[in-house]
Amino acid sequence: MVSNLPPVIAIDGPTASGKGTVAMRVAAELGFHYLDSGALYRLVALASEKEGISVDNPIALGSLASGMQIEFKDGVVLLAGRDVSEAIREEKIGSRASQVAIYSEVRDALLTLQRSFRQKPGLVADGRDMASRIFTDAVLKVYLTASVQARAERRYKQLIAKGISARMNVLLQDLQERDARDTNRGTAPLQCVEGAYLLDTSNLSVDQAVAQVLSWYAELRNQL
Ligand code: DC
Repeated sequence: MVSNLPPVIAIDGPTASGKGTVAMRVAAELGFHYLDSGALYRLVALASEKEGISVDNPIALGSLASGMQIEFKDGVVLLAGRDVSEAIREEKIGSRASQVAIYSEVRDALLTLQRSFRQKPGLVADGRDMASRIFTDAVLKVYLTASVQARAERRYKQLIAKGISARMNVLLQDLQERDARDTNRGTAPLQCVEGAYLLDTSNLSVDQAVAQVLSWYAELRNQL
């Protein structure tokens, strides 16, 4: 059945796989909107830390998530009017995001907000459950991954370029822990759903990965 809703390209994958960069570039090429769903979990992580809410309290985390005042404007993320774009990118907030994301209370609170990003002419959404739960009718589903070594090296270079000190062995361990938590949780775990196109970017440049996604999309759009 052909849907009247704007088309969605869902890009899921593990942490530091480069899916954010690829998704943003694909959205720009197509003139589509872009949803960085991980930013929402990072916002819950940041806000709960600031308010002293424990990562062991799903009820309080869920009610915090449903009441957050969030705005995305020209690449800037605002929480209650304050620019938190840098703060949510910190490694410790990424780790905490992975911890708060295990709860259905938090995930359910963010459901409607995520779906509200589906606007004309279309949406590119990246995360863990874009294809499996939020946009199950996505035109194109991509599972974008890279080896844990390649992902740790990329993250290391990003941090060093920003002047933040980092240690490879610590990054590797953190990525492995987050992969395990995101993949093994009971609610909406990270998975490569049936029908998804697998894109391993371990040996691909960003340009090559973007070109591959665009070419899959062009192929599928022609079949609609
Ligand atoms: O994509 P990211 O690294 O910014 O996401 C941070 C954490 O948020 C990730 O470890 C798991 C969680 N997350 C999720 O559970 N579901 C999503 N759709 C996106 C992120």
